[in-house]
Amino acid sequence: MTPVVEAVDLARHYQVGQGLFSGNVTLKALRGTSFSMPAGKTLAVVGESGCGKSTLARLVTLIERPSSGILRLDGVDAGAADKPTLRELRKKVQIVFQDPYGSLNPRKKVGAILEESLVINTAMNARERADAAREMMDRVGLRPEYYDRYPHMFSGGQRQRIAIARALMLRPKLIVLDEPVSALDVSIQAQVLNLLVDLQEEFNLTYLFISHDLSVVRHFADEVMVMYLGRAVEQGPREAIFTTPRHPYTRALLSSTPVADPRRRGTRIKLVGELPSPIDPPPGCAFHPRCAYANERCRVEFPEGIDAGGQLVACHGVEEGRIDTAPPPGAIF
Ligand SMILES: Nc1ncnc2c1ncn2[C@@H]1O[C@H](COP(=O)(O)OP(=O)(O)OP(=O)(O)O)[C@@H](O)[C@H]1O
Ligand SMILES: [Mg+2]
Repeated sequence: MTPVVEAVDLARHYQVGQGLFSGNVTLKALRGTSFSMPAGKTLAVVGESGCGKSTLARLVTLIERPSSGILRLDGVDAGAADKPTLRELRKKVQIVFQDPYGSLNPRKKVGAILEESLVINTAMNARERADAAREMMDRVGLRPEYYDRYPHMFSGGQRQRIAIARALMLRPKLIVLDEPVSALDVSIQAQVLNLLVDLQEEFNLTYLFISHDLSVVRHFADEVMVMYLGRAVEQGPREAIFTTPRHPYTRALLSSTPVADPRRRGTRIKLVGELPSPIDPPPGCAFHPRCAYANERCRVEFPEGIDAGGQLVACHGVEEGRIDTAPPPGAIF
């Protein structure tokens, strides 16, 4: 089956000014990311702030074009597509942002917000659009009677339901969820996540799920991609990433999240030092300045991804067997 998304070495660079008297420099927000997403599954993207998650989200949803690399949506090369083809592709990919307050136009009623994409992209008449909007409100757990209300009359969780309903109106194949529940109360988070799970099943949706919260990712994802400074350092099936993470950065990320079961507490790896600047990323492996296992090779040679028992890992130490790949029983690596 054709993957819904196929990314090959996707990169995105920005020219940024350094101040009044110095010229522009290149900021490498995304430095070559490859992955493939089958229909109906969830790929979670995790990593520290600034590692390029939202940049990736903007590329996949065609909000921005990559600086290099290939993006195929539903088998179609978006970089080579003409305008009518791009318009068709845009209907297939939608995005839900973190901030349910900023992402909805405060001057529009819910009904109008939901119907906007139908006005632009379909030949439906007003009656049909209103029916479709009310039906979708009902589907996402909003009362259809609220059709004429404005966004400020809803709670954060309800607004996020509106944003989800809006994303679904054109029956997309892919929804990019950029920290969709991070701004919500914990009690509301679970409700919205459950809704997303139900909708995925009902509409066979593919999710690109961006999250800081590893406990949510563990619950929600099929595949996990761990990013560091614009690159994937490890990617693979959820269980492999959570039970046998290989890359020292993945281990550090996982060991910084609390574990409820005391038997599973083991060696902790602490992340020390700051995330380096994407304007001047360290040579070799970008993680080497913070890595306890780094040697000379790591400082000079760029690690390509290797297959380490089902997951892809970009680490010389793993490749050379220098890093203990089988964590001791009870370790929380
Ligand atoms: N339009 C832009 N112009 C210049 N630099 C940008 C632009 N967008 C993002 N960046 C930079 O690219 C890098 C990656 O940003 P991005 O927003 O993708 O990170 P992120 O992983 O989503 O972070 P967060 O977890 O904080 O949302 C950052 O250094 C950011 O400052
Ligand atoms: Mg972001």
